Amino acid sequence: MNEDDYNDLSKRLKFQDVLLDTLPNPVYYKDTIGRFIRVNTCFAELVNTTKSEIIGKSAYDFFPKVVVERHKIIDQNIMKTYEPYEDEVPFKKANGEIRYFTLNKAVCVNEDGTVAGIVCVMNDITERTREKEFLIQQSKFAEMGEMIASIAHQWNEPLVELSAQIQKMQIIHAMNKIDKNKMSDFVNDSMVQIQYMSETLSDFRNFLKPSTVKDKFGIKQALREIFDIVGKQIFYFNINVNFDYKDDSDEIFIYGYKNELKQVLLNIINNAKNKLVKLNEEKDFKGIITIKVHTCKDFNIIEICDNGGSIADEIMNQLFEPFFTTKVNGTGFGLYMAKIIVEDKMSGKIEVRNNHENVIFTIKIPLVKK
Ligand SMILES: Nc1ncnc2c1ncn2[C@@H]1O[C@H](COP(=O)(O)OP(=O)(O)OP(=O)(O)O)[C@@H](O)[C@H]1O
Ligand SMILES: [Mg+2]
Repeated sequence: MNEDDYNDLSKRLKFQDVLLDTLPNPVYYKDTIGRFIRVNTCFAELVNTTKSEIIGKSAYDFFPKVVVERHKIIDQNIMKTYEPYEDEVPFKKANGEIRYFTLNKAVCVNEDGTVAGIVCVMNDITERTREKEFLIQQSKFAEMGEMIASIAHQWNEPLVELSAQIQKMQIIHAMNKIDKNKMSDFVNDSMVQIQYMSETLSDFRNFLKPSTVKDKFGIKQALREIFDIVGKQIFYFNINVNFDYKDDSDEIFIYGYKNELKQVLLNIINNAKNKLVKLNEEKDFKGIITIKVHTCKDFNIIEICDNGGSIADEIMNQLFEPFFTTKVNGTGFGLYMAKIIVEDKMSGKIEVRNNHENVIFTIKIPLVKK
């Protein structure tokens, strides 16, 4: 290397250093055996040390072993396939604070095409993640009023039943006819009602708990749990609910956040219900909600259809926007949240269309990977 080349290279490296250190994202470059070759200041700050302390060391020196082992496999795969990789990871800082990052990794190749190492650019998405969580919780509280009304409604029947049993017991006592069998019947019958009320409450509590881990769950079971909560009210308003399941015996499994998906379904069902309640006041109208669940090649599909009149073309593509509402007391939050949960959190798709006088909401969730 002559002096000009050397000066040129040295200038380039300096420029790259300034460039890397100006970036607000942590960046590192590792060789094929996982040793850090270059890092920027932002990365050094993240792991609470200096750049020179990191160079030559490996991820084992800065991250928990389980995380490193997982990423070792990912890195080996990237170096084999040359495919870029993206992931979301939590990271615990030295002061105990948890931050969330996206990782974008790609291979660097030598001039002869062999792998030289891996570059990773991290992006701090903590605020965005927290905002999303906050919005989801917020929307749950917005639905709370309706949930409490549903619970009150569902408790009405068992309470009436319980008070009838207590009065009956009083009469039996007055007639001096209490025996062991009568007592045992009374206890059993009462326990059925109490059990039912307690299940309603625990459904409600589960609904308010944020789901933090993705899980495999049955969609038919989730729908049953929703109708355990709101079914009575829908029945009370004289709305018919039809379930159209291709195969009645088989459960369909979804990979995602169960409570959040229940919230999405509840929002859509509530929208349909509110519209149909008004129409049901007119004579000759019978509100019907049809729920269809089926599976295609890549997706599980849930369709919720109501017969309460189509949506005007002008507003069709605004429905999922935050705060869009046509109701006097609406928040316009329900469908926006539904979109965030289905599309951002569960990598699915939510759509709406008219079919004559019917409105159909379709939710597609990617199939559980075997
Ligand atoms: N099944 C439906 N049929 C016709 N229009 C609908 C239906 N579902 C939603 N919409 C329209 O989409 C708008 C947005 O719905 P979204 O659930 O986001 O908010 P909202 O229902 O208006 O308010 P909130 O959920 O706070 O009561 C509604 O105001 C309504 O105009
Ligand atoms: Mg709504």
